Amino acid sequence: MRIAIGSDHAGFPMKEIIKEYLRELGHEVMDLGTHSTSSVNYVEFAEAVARAVARGEAERGVLICGTGIGMSIAANKVEGIRAALVHSEYTARMAAMHNDANILTFGGRVESPEEGKRFVKTWLETPFEGGRHLQRLGKIGELEEKCKEG
Ligand code: RB5
Repeated sequence: MRIAIGSDHAGFPMKEIIKEYLRELGHEVMDLGTHSTSSVNYVEFAEAVARAVARGEAERGVLICGTGIGMSIAANKVEGIRAALVHSEYTARMAAMHNDANILTFGGRVESPEEGKRFVKTWLETPFEGGRHLQRLGKIGELEEKCKEG
């Protein structure tokens, strides 16, 4: 899979670990920054990864900040993005199975590298269940349209 990854300074060390791990798993990784622990704003990296996924330049995205909260809030502003903030293997599995999340976010200051790796692997390997969940995703699309109208 082609996967876009991004972080702010707080998520940078975890991003580097997850990037290498995704490559080990055989994925192609687009690293959209940041590239150091110098302080930056998470919003621009969330936008870059979310737009890459929304445009189809990447199939999935991973976003890491200190808590994962800012990244999920920002990424979900981009039309077509379903960014899930996860904190366990269970929520990572459900993000794929029930929500068909196209972006995974988590906290680089919250999770250990081993947890981060497990979340990403589980999310990537779990298929979307479809059925009633597909209908619910359709309703999220309708909500996006309604919000555009005001
Ligand atoms: C940066 O200090 C921190 O606020 C950021 O990484 C993130 O956790 C925001 O949601």
